[in-house]
Amino acid sequence: QIPAMYYFHAATGLYFRMPSIFVQFFLLTFLTVENSAVQSPICNSMIPSISLSNGVEMPQLAMGTCFRDTMKDENNPSGLPLNPNFFGFLPERTHRALTHALAMGYRHIDTALVYRSQKAIGSVLASHFASGALTREDLFITSKLYHGSMPGLTRKGTTLDLENMTPEEVSVAVETQFETILEELNLGYVDLMLLHWPAEMDSKHEGNAARRLAAWKVLEDCFSRGWARSIGVSNFSEAHIEQLMEDGAKILPMVNQIEASVYKQWNGIADYCRGKGIGLMAYSPLGMGKASLLADPILAGIASKHNVEPAQAAMRYLVQLGYAILPLSTSEKRLGQNMGVFSFELDDTDMETLGKLKSMNEGIGLPSPY
Ligand code: A2P
Repeated sequence: QIPAMYYFHAATGLYFRMPSIFVQFFLLTFLTVENSAVQSPICNSMIPSISLSNGVEMPQLAMGTCFRDTMKDENNPSGLPLNPNFFGFLPERTHRALTHALAMGYRHIDTALVYRSQKAIGSVLASHFASGALTREDLFITSKLYHGSMPGLTRKGTTLDLENMTPEEVSVAVETQFETILEELNLGYVDLMLLHWPAEMDSKHEGNAARRLAAWKVLEDCFSRGWARSIGVSNFSEAHIEQLMEDGAKILPMVNQIEASVYKQWNGIADYCRGKGIGLMAYSPLGMGKASLLADPILAGIASKHNVEPAQAAMRYLVQLGYAILPLSTSEKRLGQNMGVFSFELDDTDMETLGKLKSMNEGIGLPSPY
């Protein structure tokens, strides 16, 4: 049934641009809607899903909620914060953007303890639950814990000292962070919980592997208790995952969320994850909205060939590579555009051309594999 549902969602996307094939898929649609409603209501929207290794269906488009001061704001077109000294997260941007996104059909929300957007997400969800507009089962919520501090950006209480903690201290702290996340979101469980980073950025500390294992074991426990329907990692290299399994992890991560865009293509780790059945999620699929990516002439040419926006072509590339994407936007118009990635298809030549576009000097990237 799972592959059949994938084809169903691909087919529903096609209806909007090729009405002539509607009749061809009419029967299949009605049969599959009936099945998917029983399996997972989140699959009833226009967004296809990826089947994780434990059978959980993860919607392939998520709303990113890492609102930082560098993000453009519709009410502040210059993109600059009102106080030029401010540097940090702006969780207040979540309320309106998420309300628009849910109305449009977004059902997957990506957040993390460090983003500080979880309380706002919890409050928007609460109003939807109260009105009966949505139920918990309609949604797929991804969160992350286990993040080192980034002075000036992160707040105390959301981060851990990943360079100095003992594995025992990590176990206690990660369980506490998990509980905090559920409390902030006001939810009983999340659909996916990730270890946010393998270590402090670029750390080569010899204790990193033992700390990662301790943190992962807490996620395994929380998974068995039903606090998370699936568990995974973020920003992990092949070496990090291999070492985790060698050191005694019982569960192979179900997802690895990494930075990926047409300018940031990690073929090694992506192939590794595909080979192991680890679901791929791409953060910053638009290169953090940098003009250099969105104005790339090759990307623009492919976009105009398909009569879509460059941002849509850039994200469609990742979708066809099998990534779930989590673009960030505060704009109703662009949230809508970003849902449009399921209504057209790039051909083999487009895929090959975009595959050669990488310009690895932008973005955050993977940390060193220690
Ligand atoms: P905005 O909030 O004004 O829409 P990324 O997801 O790669 O981190 O990129 C996020 C940035 O990309 C944000 O600044 C966001 O700005 C911008 N963005 C999101 N969607 C689009 C789009 N469809 N076209 C152009 N820019 C976009």
